[in-house]
Amino acid sequence: IIEEKIDSLLGMMTLDEKIGQMTQVRHFDDISEEDIAGKFIGSVIHTQGPLPGNNAQEWQAKFKHLQELALSTRLGIPLVFGVDAVHGQNTYEGATIFPHNIGMGAAGNAELVEKAARITAIETQATGFNWVFSPCIAIPYNEKWGRVYEAFSESTELTEELTKASIMGHQGNDLKSKRSVMATAKHYVGDGATDFGVEGGETTLDAEEVEKRLLPPYRVAVENGVGSVMASFNSLKGIPMHAHKTLITHILKGTMQFDGIVVSDWKGYSRFGENDVINAGVDMIMAVEGDFDMYQEGLKGGVESGEVSMERIDDAVRRILRQKFRLNVFENPFPNSSLIPEIGIKAHRDVARQAVRESLVLLKNEGNMLPLDKNLSRIVVVGEHANSSGLQSGGWTINWQGTKENYKGATTILEGIQQMAKGEVIYDSDANGNHYDADVAIIVVGETPYAESFGDIGGEMDLYQITLTEAHQKYIEAYASKGIKTVIVLVSGRPLVVTKQIEQSDAFVAAWLLGSEGHGVGEVLFGDYNFKGKLPHSWPKSEEDYNGKYGPNFWDDSITPLFPIGFGLNY
Ligand code: IFM
Repeated sequence: IIEEKIDSLLGMMTLDEKIGQMTQVRHFDDISEEDIAGKFIGSVIHTQGPLPGNNAQEWQAKFKHLQELALSTRLGIPLVFGVDAVHGQNTYEGATIFPHNIGMGAAGNAELVEKAARITAIETQATGFNWVFSPCIAIPYNEKWGRVYEAFSESTELTEELTKASIMGHQGNDLKSKRSVMATAKHYVGDGATDFGVEGGETTLDAEEVEKRLLPPYRVAVENGVGSVMASFNSLKGIPMHAHKTLITHILKGTMQFDGIVVSDWKGYSRFGENDVINAGVDMIMAVEGDFDMYQEGLKGGVESGEVSMERIDDAVRRILRQKFRLNVFENPFPNSSLIPEIGIKAHRDVARQAVRESLVLLKNEGNMLPLDKNLSRIVVVGEHANSSGLQSGGWTINWQGTKENYKGATTILEGIQQMAKGEVIYDSDANGNHYDADVAIIVVGETPYAESFGDIGGEMDLYQITLTEAHQKYIEAYASKGIKTVIVLVSGRPLVVTKQIEQSDAFVAAWLLGSEGHGVGEVLFGDYNFKGKLPHSWPKSEEDYNGKYGPNFWDDSITPLFPIGFGLNY
């Protein structure tokens, strides 16, 4: 019956109306509000840029207003609203923020991933959105890639299992429900498998390896009804993925029978060959940052000149309308204010806290250093990462690059430790040398947040940094050299080369990017819960592991890792 409704709408639509549906814009700064109606826009994205308002009520009101504009058009086709809610509704202060996918991969608990995605769906709908650009189901080949943390694991099998859970959690049994959102499997395909880990670089894997390691999670996503797939910035053997007709049209839409929306990534039209992108099978363009006019005019010109067929346009619009019917936005177009009180509630945070506990991987525990005794008289907690919910959460937290030092509703690792310990807890932000009389130093070191970059902020290949900063290395040295027992907690979006620091420590914990519930760390360090996490990646031993195109991976025995995938101690 949906297909009949689509047929009837398609029969009435002009070319301008069709191209409008195939356009996604950022609210306010890409086009004017009036153009939402005047240009028959299909979707609005909220990502980096201005916030839609000061609180969820205002966000909902803003999107309701834009929806009213869309509904005022001749055919009244509603908008869908998309957001990068990749570890909770991470664009909204006060929402529940989960560990990034790498932590969920370490926890390896499909039920937990499904619950987290369910909660994300509810809190995302509560802020006015019905479409998330998540999950990222990349298989990272090189830890120097700056998006390793957005993916679950280097294991295709584990990624398949967690992909299924994530899609079921986001979309529920029924996309019509206001407690569900449309999910996006991204980035199709090869995003994490570029040579040397270059973001948007060149993937040189042969077809067999793409088929064996990269495509299976997409197959699972499609089988479980994922609503959309995002094209990737990388090229595959010289062909930009946005223009890869074989992989998009023949394999994804043909062999896999994906019937949802293929959405471009940021400015995907102008970056990757304009109408080649549409002809390859991309259905909706993220026409942001000045791309809007050139896209709409370029595509219209392409149709008029015969470069793009009307069948291709109709296929794209059919897919977009299909998902709008499945989301029931024709019948129920507005956000639901009754969901707002559910944002960041304790029941949701408890699940995120469980996820933090289960994601921690214990790499060393000499002389049963852990669990710590709650009655120790003096504990020093070292490092700015211990005292910042922003640093512990990484990129895609509150804003794109995750630059907020602390955000509303989150608890830090330090606060969690303070709550567990019965004795004195001193905080030493930078190992300043005044606290060498502690029973134990819990030293929290790690990466500064980044998003969509290389593994460092410099962004130049020879600047890739896969080691701790000198300052953080010194924090560890300062305490270890005084003979103080040390527990190192590493906050990072990927495994790092920390062989020396592991040797210097008594206990070493990989804590990934844990999100808003810092309490989860203390609960495991002090033994209320045992360690459960297992490495979702092979762990490098030296910088030389990266002399080739890829880092250590379990399927390639030419590099022996420091720890194999699946490694993780407990008490
Ligand atoms: O969804 C993201 C994608 O993962 C990277 N580029 C921008 C998109 C929208 O913010």
